[in-house]
Amino acid sequence: MRDERITKFPFGGDYNPEQWDPETWPEDMKLLREAGVDTVTINVFSWALIQKDDDVYDFSILDSIVRTVTDAGMNICMATATAAVPAWMSRKHPDIRRVEWNGMRHTFGGRENACPNSPTMRKYSPLMARKLAERYASLPNIIAWHVSNEYSGRCYCENCTKAFREWLRDKYGTIEKLNHEWNANFWGHTFYDWDDIVAPNILSEEFGDYWNARTCFQGISLDYARFQSDSLLRNYRDEYDEIKKVIPDALVTTNLMGAYKEINYQKWAPYLDIAAHDNYPWDGESESSVGFTLDLIRGLKGGRSWWLMEQTPSVSNWFVNCSVKRPGVMRLLSYQAVAHGADSVMFFQMKRSVGACEKYHGAVIDHVGHGETRVYREVQTVGKELERLGDQLMETVTPAKYAILFDWDNWWAVEYSAGPSAYLKYADEVKKYYEAMHRLHISVDIISYDSDISGYDTVFAPLMYMIKPGMADKLEKYVQNGGHFVTTAFSGYVNENDRVTVGGYPGELKKLMGIWVEEIDALPQDKENHFRLFDKDYPARIVCDVIHTQGAVALADYKEDFYAGSPVITCNSFGRGRAYYIGTSSSIEFYMDLMLKELGMEGIEFAESGTVPCAYRQDYDSVKYVESTVRENDSARFFFYLNHSEEVKRVIAPSKGIDILTDREYSGGDEIELAGYGVVILRTSKA
Ligand code: GLA
Ligand code: ZN
Repeated sequence: MRDERITKFPFGGDYNPEQWDPETWPEDMKLLREAGVDTVTINVFSWALIQKDDDVYDFSILDSIVRTVTDAGMNICMATATAAVPAWMSRKHPDIRRVEWNGMRHTFGGRENACPNSPTMRKYSPLMARKLAERYASLPNIIAWHVSNEYSGRCYCENCTKAFREWLRDKYGTIEKLNHEWNANFWGHTFYDWDDIVAPNILSEEFGDYWNARTCFQGISLDYARFQSDSLLRNYRDEYDEIKKVIPDALVTTNLMGAYKEINYQKWAPYLDIAAHDNYPWDGESESSVGFTLDLIRGLKGGRSWWLMEQTPSVSNWFVNCSVKRPGVMRLLSYQAVAHGADSVMFFQMKRSVGACEKYHGAVIDHVGHGETRVYREVQTVGKELERLGDQLMETVTPAKYAILFDWDNWWAVEYSAGPSAYLKYADEVKKYYEAMHRLHISVDIISYDSDISGYDTVFAPLMYMIKPGMADKLEKYVQNGGHFVTTAFSGYVNENDRVTVGGYPGELKKLMGIWVEEIDALPQDKENHFRLFDKDYPARIVCDVIHTQGAVALADYKEDFYAGSPVITCNSFGRGRAYYIGTSSSIEFYMDLMLKELGMEGIEFAESGTVPCAYRQDYDSVKYVESTVRENDSARFFFYLNHSEEVKRVIAPSKGIDILTDREYSGGDEIELAGYGVVILRTSKA
């Protein structure tokens, strides 16, 4: 149900006026209003200002902030303040401080720093949410609730260890079952008591560095990753539930971070009333990598539109080299988010801090304090445009005939795996397939392993290493009924607990794929094998599965090494559909050719003026190109054309339409000129 207070895309973002003298607030309001800001996110880090001791609460500063922004006519995205633990609480209740991967307990500092299983956190964070909801329930301009902030990280403390044992007991029931699933007799790890189990950090099973941790026991590390993601989810739900008890129809969410490995957002999604995402591409990140993240977020709630909760107006402060967004790039990235389903454009931050680590992070109001800056003017331009767009794009959806399956458990399992190659990165492999579709202007849904796939023409599951219960059956039915399924090397190996399915790889997928993978070879980064298909040679990289067909046909064979002549790409006709096995990692060019020439996939009707239709372009290596997506509702279809290059590009209007950013009309076949970093949103009638 559409909230009738939201009549256009919310535009604004994080505003932290508690950092300044209240006398400056009216001037902030004036500047923000003039920039078109209508929504501010407040109270993100104010726990310490509100709760001063166990039973001492003081809402006076927040009350005056609320009054100021309300009087200025702004909507509020109300954060619950619990993203950073107050110093007194940290001192008085040390259980709230996290213990690191190396076993060290934190002292006070940082943020997103509470142990998720701390009794203090579980008592005080929901209480804060409740008090806020009760206090501001009747305020008409709170359009969303923002629980905590960018949940992240893990804890390895005693309380987490105890809660982990309970979590395992719920999951496995008996210690014998756990021993079996973890294959605990390996290295004499047999557990006799739940209390034998400890958190698998560097003092226990894991080694390497935290962000690329290796493990001696995949079973326990995998379960700990799940458990910590669940623990943070429980923190989120603690607060969510309290808000809902007071305001049942509140729109409650938290800001996610795209393809953030540590938290299984798909498991969180049912508890987000709307998905919300913070978009911070790194300098030089490709448009398809960003697009992947945005579509991942779009997929969380079944393709429903989502909120762009944060992006920087210009610079992000945490990189080694913090370049500013070039003129036009903030606008381009704003519309890229919209092109992938965002129904808001919000920033971090409204005003630049004067101290601490974000004082050089981009802001709408810079230290100079007035609106005569490039960044302010660019924000203002987008603000004006969004006002003109009104609600016409809101809740429009992206129709997709193709899907990529993406799964966090699988991600953890692939990358905890010792072998075949530490260079085999799950998200990277998935993004290669995504990039091919992106360049072909093919809309794709990125969905979880649990999603219904029956409506898709083709489903890709790169690196489907883990086969969860029921998955093989589901895929067989899907292909039997005419679907096309594509999977890759290192797929079908293990069950949901990382226990190998014996009887030959790809395990439970053997029947569907009609192959047996006898060996998997890993190539050093500077080495390639090759194969020939579609009259071209393509590289085989990172891993090479040595395949025997058992019903499938080989479409291409390896050209080199002792397995030269054995299949690398296979196709199995199964029922009315086909199952493809891509036994290696190849180039974007190969994936594009596979999609066009073998799978017959179709993209958005799209052509660049004076060139061949974009889908057939051969310049596979040029990174910056015109991106195109579609959103639609019952009556209109909106074509987004986003020029990621500095040069002028020209595209051809597919049919009669109007650019809703300029009101300029085009007939079908007309040339549309896109300035460097330019955007056109062509509305066409669906009738
Ligand atoms: C994150 C946080 C914000 C802020 C920005 C800075 O997204 O949510 O509080 O720190 O980063 O880029
Ligand atoms: Zn803990």
